Amino acid sequence: MQRKIKSYVLRAGRVSNRQRQGLDHWFKNYELSVGGTPWNLAEEFHRIADTVVEIGFGMGASLLTMAQNNPELNYIGIEVHQAGVGSLAADLHKYQLSNVRIVAHDAVEVFRTQLLDNSLAGVQIFFPDPWHKKRHHKRRLIQKEFIQLLAKKIKPGGFIHCATDWQDYAEHMLDVLSTETTLQNTRKEGGYSPRPLSRPLTKFEQRGERLGHGVWDLIFTKLDENS
Ligand SMILES: C[S@@+](CC[C@H](N)C(=O)[O-])C[C@H]1O[C@@H](n2cnc3c(N)ncnc32)[C@H](O)[C@@H]1O
Repeated sequence: MQRKIKSYVLRAGRVSNRQRQGLDHWFKNYELSVGGTPWNLAEEFHRIADTVVEIGFGMGASLLTMAQNNPELNYIGIEVHQAGVGSLAADLHKYQLSNVRIVAHDAVEVFRTQLLDNSLAGVQIFFPDPWHKKRHHKRRLIQKEFIQLLAKKIKPGGFIHCATDWQDYAEHMLDVLSTETTLQNTRKEGGYSPRPLSRPLTKFEQRGERLGHGVWDLIFTKLDENS
């Protein structure tokens, strides 16, 4: 699968002093570099534990809270924007968390080269760029081939959790996830799940709620081939 169209556009956005400090001083303590051979997760985290990957963590607010709430889990956060990488690195240092690693790279390539099959406890993708215009839909991260790849990397019983505030993207996600035969919807009656308490409510989402905007959560698990 050669995917040349990127799901993001890199802009030289402003990086605050705190984010700059995070990038220059702390990122190296949490960085997982992309090199072509899959990571040995036990070595990278200095322990054996279930590992959850968050794709496109933005400023890292949800990831930070989840990592604090679940110290028994390893988290890998993937984000291409420098400001977000710096922000999360600064927070990880501030709170002295040891169960998070950061990858500043395109998640599509990371999943192609760095992760072993059946190795992850879950993958979460919260509010991926919706790419509103129809002619940009090909840029959306959630595509059939990418979900197939994620499903391969997840262990049987592991999860894929997506959330979006864009209904048209939610419908597309539901279609793609439901047609992947190795996955099943955790919602027995099909369709969307209520937001689980495990997913922190973001500031942006709280604002959306006040304005009456919808949010759609989709939670699927990987089937066990042998059962
Ligand atoms: C709309 S933001 C949402 C951020 C965050 N999850 C939240 O809920 O606030 C989507 C993020 O995904 C990142 N992103 C998009 N495509 C990506 C990719 N292929 N690899 C890594 N990050 C990506 C973008 O840089 C952006 O920060």
